[in-house]
Amino acid sequence: MTELPTERRDAVRSRLLTWQREHGRHDLPWQTPATPYRVWVSEIMLQQTRVETVIPFFQRFIHRFPDVNSLAAGSLDEVLALWAGLGYYARARNLHRAAAILASEAQGRIPSDLESLQTLPGVGPSTAGAIRSLGHGLPAPILDGNVKRVLARLEAVPGWPGRSPVQRQLWSISAQLAPESDECARFNQGLMDLGATVCTPTAPLCGGCPWQSLCHAYAEGTPEAYPGRRPRQHQPLRQVQVLLLESQGHVLLEKRPPTGVWGGLWSLPEADVDQSAQARALALGVECSRMADLPPYEHTFSHFKLRMFPVRLAVQKQVSTGAIGEAGDVCWFNPRDDGEGPGIAAPIRRIVEAALGGG
Ligand code: ADE
Repeated sequence: MTELPTERRDAVRSRLLTWQREHGRHDLPWQTPATPYRVWVSEIMLQQTRVETVIPFFQRFIHRFPDVNSLAAGSLDEVLALWAGLGYYARARNLHRAAAILASEAQGRIPSDLESLQTLPGVGPSTAGAIRSLGHGLPAPILDGNVKRVLARLEAVPGWPGRSPVQRQLWSISAQLAPESDECARFNQGLMDLGATVCTPTAPLCGGCPWQSLCHAYAEGTPEAYPGRRPRQHQPLRQVQVLLLESQGHVLLEKRPPTGVWGGLWSLPEADVDQSAQARALALGVECSRMADLPPYEHTFSHFKLRMFPVRLAVQKQVSTGAIGEAGDVCWFNPRDDGEGPGIAAPIRRIVEAALGGG
């Protein structure tokens, strides 16, 4: 690993700290006050979601679950309902599981050492560093997506950060730069702020960057060439029919298994594309007639693309067998009803609302 010369390290630190005081973000909801719990919840929400999207979800979540013990005492269904629309629901299940662990083993206190933090479900090295530095005010490096870009440019680190040697190099840079003092929180926040507002993926605003004269990628004239791109890979495509089983303004929802995509959320019943939708409905316990096929709707997950073919079916009669008769994990949902309703994945809610109206 390259060692940064002391003078360079000091210049990088002091310029970023000054810039953060003057131009960084100071009024994000998880910064006032920045407790370990609030930082933890925000970091989990921010792992795959933009700040502007996270803010209202964070506020609702903290209002309902103000601390570790209230979260541990809440039901997973309620946690998932508050998460519905944010995506990547494993994050919510992990948060709930981690809260239960902390409530039963640590009186609801969030540890400050990196090793203990990383034993919590959903907490990797960068989230642990953020909780320790931003939440506890103790020194620790971070390396989220924005920070990878900022540091790859500063030091002109070649290669795609998904590759371990590149990632190791970036961690080493972050660790060398992180101040060993209570200034680490401001420094790390500065890294994230710089990545979000100046050192953007495209068209970075190098003229407003405190590191312009120190940045090796800028000196090369190609800041946007860093970090290196991920090698192209093929995204598999999955196709399913989604059944809109309609009865008196309601549709039938089915609870998804606890693991996998949208795990534990309510969704429309699915059928294979080569299966009869009516036969699948009958297995659920309803006889119905096919009304219309709606245009396909695509949703991209991190590792595959899902193409959904919504089919509208009018329920004619309920039969005594099937999941409905057996009171399985099914419910009737009216999208025009007031309130949030159950936790439904956002793309599914859009399909239901497009078919039946609502909101
Ligand atoms: N992304 C992850 N953590 C963040 C933070 N504390 N502020 C802004 N964006 C972030």
